[in-house]
Formats: sequence, structure tokens, C-alpha cells
Amino acid sequence: MAIKDRILYFLRSGEFVSGEDLSVRLKVSRTAVWKSINSLKEQGYEIDSVTNRGYRLVSSPDVLTIGEISRELGTRLLGAKLFSFDSVDSTNEEAKRQALAEAPDGSVFVSELQTGGKGRLGRNWSSPPGTGLWFSVLLRPGSIPARASVTTLLAGYAVRSAIRQTTDCPAMIKWPNDIVIGPKKVCGILTEMSAEMERVEFIVVGIGVNVNGAQFPGELKEKATSLFLQCGKTFRRAPLLGEILRRFEKLLEENRGGLSPDFLAEYKKSCVSLDRAVSFERNGVRLSGRSVDISPEGELVVAMPDGTLTTVFSGEVSVQGFYGK
Ligand code: BTN
Repeated sequence: MAIKDRILYFLRSGEFVSGEDLSVRLKVSRTAVWKSINSLKEQGYEIDSVTNRGYRLVSSPDVLTIGEISRELGTRLLGAKLFSFDSVDSTNEEAKRQALAEAPDGSVFVSELQTGGKGRLGRNWSSPPGTGLWFSVLLRPGSIPARASVTTLLAGYAVRSAIRQTTDCPAMIKWPNDIVIGPKKVCGILTEMSAEMERVEFIVVGIGVNVNGAQFPGELKEKATSLFLQCGKTFRRAPLLGEILRRFEKLLEENRGGLSPDFLAEYKKSCVSLDRAVSFERNGVRLSGRSVDISPEGELVVAMPDGTLTTVFSGEVSVQGFYGK
């Protein structure tokens, strides 16, 4: 742990701690303590310095440093290894690079800013600094469910329930894993898989939550929203990240062998995509029907006009009533 993080650990008592005390406890010079305190102040930590009393932490900024995230985690696997960046092209890309460099199962990659944030279908994902949670989770075979494709549903449900727990926002799931509030999207998930000869090598689950963004560019305005815009107040991101990862980890453990009936029932209750007119593309043809169920494999079950049922695998289903459609 860096000196700064160790100093923060002591300051979090909320009491004054003297420079002398810190230098003895951390076995570093007074100058090193002083430099670290200044660097923390530059990062946005408000620290009182009072002669003969020492330093006292008044407030912490909403930053996604390893120190701020680790204290919110409480997980066994997810985030045991954390990578935090000020800026990166895409946390999914970084996770894939690190996966090839042997990053362990459960590694989490977070960035304040993504210069090339990726959405599904080759779209861009707007990832301005400081306003969102842009992160990816690397999963290796030990923690990937027997049917790997359900991972993304588990992630979506984890985000939805974490948002509800942390913010009271009435977040719902648009199958398979968009999180919406009313007709607008507050979170998107891009899951990428690396497999060889049927064996999944690793999965990267990339999650983007619009937390404190106050405006969206161009046509996104119609489709996207943030927790801030919905609730009229800002939220600290590290606790929300911790809540998402705790829930995701638990769901991965509980549904290792396949989606449990309990999970499926809860997921359906949280999902706004059922009993709706839907259309999707199959073999180049656009088909329409009505969504009636979610299968135990996590697929959307659609009743077709001729009375037959079909399952849709991909997320590329258009559900009426969302994102300005
Ligand atoms: C979607 O199109 O709905 C999926 C959006 C996924 C965005 C997240 S942000 C963190 C991770 N890194 C990326 O480049 N994309 C995902």
C-alpha cells in the first residue's frame, strides 16, 4: 500500500493525528508524511493541519483510487486485484490485455476516463471523466457459470439491485442487461468472451453506469440518463462499485451450475421486457412477436403471430417503449 493510502487509513478515524505519530507508525520521514499530505490535498482530500495537533481528515473526494475502492469492497474474489487508471482507451481492452498477461480471476479494471469506450454493436460509449463508473471484471473458468452466456444477466441484475440499494432510483432491467430508469438507459454492459475449442478461456464483463453526469451529447439525450438526473443529487461512486461487485460475486457463486429458479423469478420481476411487442432479426429477416418469458438459459421467449414460441439469444431485440422507439 502506498504511503498516501496508509496515511488515509489513520486519518479516517476522524481524529487529529500528528505528523510525528504518522512518521513513527509508517516508518517514514516527517518530510515524506508532509509530501503525501500535500499530494492528498491536491487529489481533493480536505485535510485540516493544526499546529501541535496534527492532521485531521475533513472530507474525501469522489475518486476511484485503489484506496477508496478497496475500503468499500468486502468481496472475496472480485477486485482482490484492482487496476485503477486516470485514463485508458477502454477498460474492456485493458482487461483483455491483462488477461493475456496472466491477470488473475476476478481482477477489476476501473478508469476515471475512457478515450475509446466501447458499446455493443461497435458503437462508442461516452465515458467522460469523473461522472461515471467505467469498469470491467475479468472472469476465468473457476468463476464462470456452466453456461457462460448467463454471466451477463447476472451482472445486469447485480447492477440493478445495487443501484436500488444505494440510490432508491427505480432501476429496472431491459433484457438482457441494460439498466433503465423509465424509458432511458442508465447503464450498459458489454460482455466479451475469449474461447478456444469450446472452452471459455476468460470473460470480460464491462459495465458503464452513468452516475453523476448532468448532460448527454447529441442524440444520447433522448436515450440516456444518469442517477443524478433521476434523483437530483450526486452519488459517490466507490460505494456503488463495491455494492455492485459484492452482489455480482454472490450471484456468480449461487448460479454456478445454471440460473437458479429463485434468480430467474427475481430477474423476471425486475425486467421490463416481458409482455411487450418486440422485433428482432433472424437470417436477415425482421420478425415481430410478443415477449412472454425468460428461459432457464436466459433467453427471451417470444410468442410469434402464428402461435409458435421462439427463443432469442442475442440482445439485439428491439422492445417497444424504450430509448425513444
Ligand atoms: C452498451 O452498448 O450498452 C454497452 C456499454 C458498455 C460500456 C462499458 S464502460 C466500461 C467497459 N469498457 C468499455 O469500453 N465498455 C464497457
